[in-house]
Amino acid sequence: MHDLIDIERLAKNEIEEIISKAEFFAKGGRESVVKERTACMMFFENSTRTHCSFEIAAKKLGMHVLNFDVKSSSFSKGESFKDTFENLHFIDVDVFVIRHSEDGIIDRIKTELAYDLKFINAGDGKRAHPTQALLDFYTMKEKLGDVCGRKIVIVGDVAHSRVAKSNLALLNKFGADVHFCAPSYFMPENPGNFRAVWHSDLKDAISDADVVMLLRVQNERLDERTTKSAGSYADLYKLDSNTLEKYAPNAILMHPGPVNREVEITSELLDSEKGRTILEQAKNGVYVRMAVLNMLGGANV
Ligand code: CP
Repeated sequence: MHDLIDIERLAKNEIEEIISKAEFFAKGGRESVVKERTACMMFFENSTRTHCSFEIAAKKLGMHVLNFDVKSSSFSKGESFKDTFENLHFIDVDVFVIRHSEDGIIDRIKTELAYDLKFINAGDGKRAHPTQALLDFYTMKEKLGDVCGRKIVIVGDVAHSRVAKSNLALLNKFGADVHFCAPSYFMPENPGNFRAVWHSDLKDAISDADVVMLLRVQNERLDERTTKSAGSYADLYKLDSNTLEKYAPNAILMHPGPVNREVEITSELLDSEKGRTILEQAKNGVYVRMAVLNMLGGANV
């Protein structure tokens, strides 16, 4: 593995290797091949879970962490991506962890660079969030053992969700039975291109599910018309304890965060025992990101 840009470019055995290494770190394993190397966190979009867990993961591995502050950097004075990355490479950054609002930003930057730098995608636009899908997979495996044949229902703003797309790519590789549930205004342009079963009714969708994964309504990515429609989203799609208990009593409840309370989920469900898995997802993110940094940072540029 040289970069981690999306799930589609990972082989099944590479995903299994990441999960196995994450399990090793979760059990307290402390082997690191990246001690004294430098990871640069470049978050052009806001983040709590991904940024903080990448930083903690890097520090647990003995790496140096450089938090690139976009606002105070020369990038904000107009310096190009090419010059920014090449200069950081020459001052000894070994791996770049990037979040950006543009779909496919890393592939674009790589074509401009004269040097072969290492990148980890921490979320690009509406396209991909590979480490989120990996930590979600880790969490499902921890709870279910195997996802093959399991009914995984992903509910909400699929159209604007990089989490949904990366999860679908990963779950399809491992034979899960993936279902999406969304109102028309949150469906992508070509739903037929997604290898999943589509629903519009929440109760119908989650019936007998093994996993119910709620998506955040991506308010910052909605146009005016969708924002208007989304005003009534909670009336039909907000999940509460009674509905979950009635239709999917054995389901694991997941959400990538940040949660819009009382929009995707009631506070009473989020703060209940069922909601604890959502915090466990965040915790598992540290182990998965340790595994990714260790595997990637260990290879020579
Ligand atoms: N799940 C996720 O990407 O959360 P953050 O935006 O807080 O990193």
